[in-house]
Amino acid sequence: MSNKTAKITIENQSAELSIYPATLGESVIDVKPLQKLDHLTFDPGFFVTAACESKITYIDGDKGVLLYRGYPIEQLSEQCDYMDVSYLLLYGELPDTSQKNNFLQKIQAVRALDVSLAKMIAAFPQDAHPMGVLLSIIGALSTCYPTLSISKKEDREKATIELIAKIPTIAAYTYRHAIQKPFIPPKKNLGFAENFLYMLFGDDEKKASNPILIQAMDHIFTLQADHEQNASTSTVRMAGSTGTNAFAAIAAGIAALWGPAHGGANEACLNMLKEIGSPDRIPEYLEKAKDKNNSFRLMGFGHRVYKNYDPRATLMQKTCHAVLEATNTKQETLFQLALQLEKIALQDPYFIDRKLYPNVDFYSGVTLNAIGIPSNLFTVIFALSRTVGWLSHWLEMMDDPHHALYRPRQWYTGPTKRDVNN
Ligand code: SDX
Repeated sequence: MSNKTAKITIENQSAELSIYPATLGESVIDVKPLQKLDHLTFDPGFFVTAACESKITYIDGDKGVLLYRGYPIEQLSEQCDYMDVSYLLLYGELPDTSQKNNFLQKIQAVRALDVSLAKMIAAFPQDAHPMGVLLSIIGALSTCYPTLSISKKEDREKATIELIAKIPTIAAYTYRHAIQKPFIPPKKNLGFAENFLYMLFGDDEKKASNPILIQAMDHIFTLQADHEQNASTSTVRMAGSTGTNAFAAIAAGIAALWGPAHGGANEACLNMLKEIGSPDRIPEYLEKAKDKNNSFRLMGFGHRVYKNYDPRATLMQKTCHAVLEATNTKQETLFQLALQLEKIALQDPYFIDRKLYPNVDFYSGVTLNAIGIPSNLFTVIFALSRTVGWLSHWLEMMDDPHHALYRPRQWYTGPTKRDVNN
């Protein structure tokens, strides 16, 4: 386990803290012995805190490296599809042909949504934000499996397949309801990305079966599938650590992803690009982003871990090109504006000094927009992609019989004890 230690001395008391080496990246210091010194660590935002051990995803923020179970995202996005990647994240190895077919067939078999849930989606106002609908329906979905027990491995596996299979259907039905068109039920014989586009655009056969769009959608799913202990994954782990069911834990992750500092950035980024409108207004917005008295931030830029180019942004940019060519859409202007904005920002000392680069959300919005998906559905698609990552972390935690309840402490600076009647 560890033969290296760190010694911390506070006044005349000392504690030996074990240091554990990682297979990649930073070693960790076990700070539990600090309790003996009546001290806590203090790290709001968890900039330097490892909340768990994991074998799923590794990020090197300085080098712009992203590995899923050791495989570089560049190789996975070029040589594999989302079903390969989902199987890899969940079970630790890339599937062979029969494993992959069996995995996909299990998902295809349970894509359909109970009519009561479809009616719930139809009951929302047309202009309800799709993330609010998704959040609600996943909560409702949790009531459909009263006999599933998280203590049984086979039940955890069933909940995993149910969620991966049904969230695309919920997302597509939410979109169809918003545009006042009938639901298009899933087809059992279609691939994952193909079936999703079919449920969205099935009444436009040419678009729904366009192989470039299907590949682009699959690619977007892969790029957003997992990202170690980001805010929503940590939320899923925290919720799951209380022993709640998989559906409730995933609903918690969806809620966390919605924020514009996290998964909501793709929608916010596209809206920002539309607001900027033309390259001559870029300097005005960069000044706003740099102004400390202005809460405006350049959406799709910056990252807690990446202090280099987000490798997913590079790959997303390529996908964007392919979609724009395939759809021959006038969104080219938005893409050109994004390229121009990136170029100017990356020459600006404010962004250079703070190592602020485009992240995955900078180009995902332009790509989804070019496919014809409305911006308020972007974060739902992020959630759809990330469900397999969330579940991989949930399973990893639940498979560890010693996993602890997430219960952080605090630095208390409030009133000392006082009596009401004096
Ligand atoms: C995702 O964690 C993950 O892995 C998330 C994710 C995943 O796959 O799960 O990668 C997905 O959420 C990507 C990030 C999407 N969010 C955005 O694009 C929103 C815009 N970005 C920022 O809000 C910000 O960059 C964060 C929140 C993403 C990260 O910020 P941090 O790590 O909390 O750091 P910080 O806010 O302290 O910023 C450091 C400095 C500050 O300036 P100073 O106080 O040093 O002068 O950089 C500035 C910030 O003001 N800054 C920005 C900025 N991002 C940081 N200034 C202008 N525009 C920005 N976008």
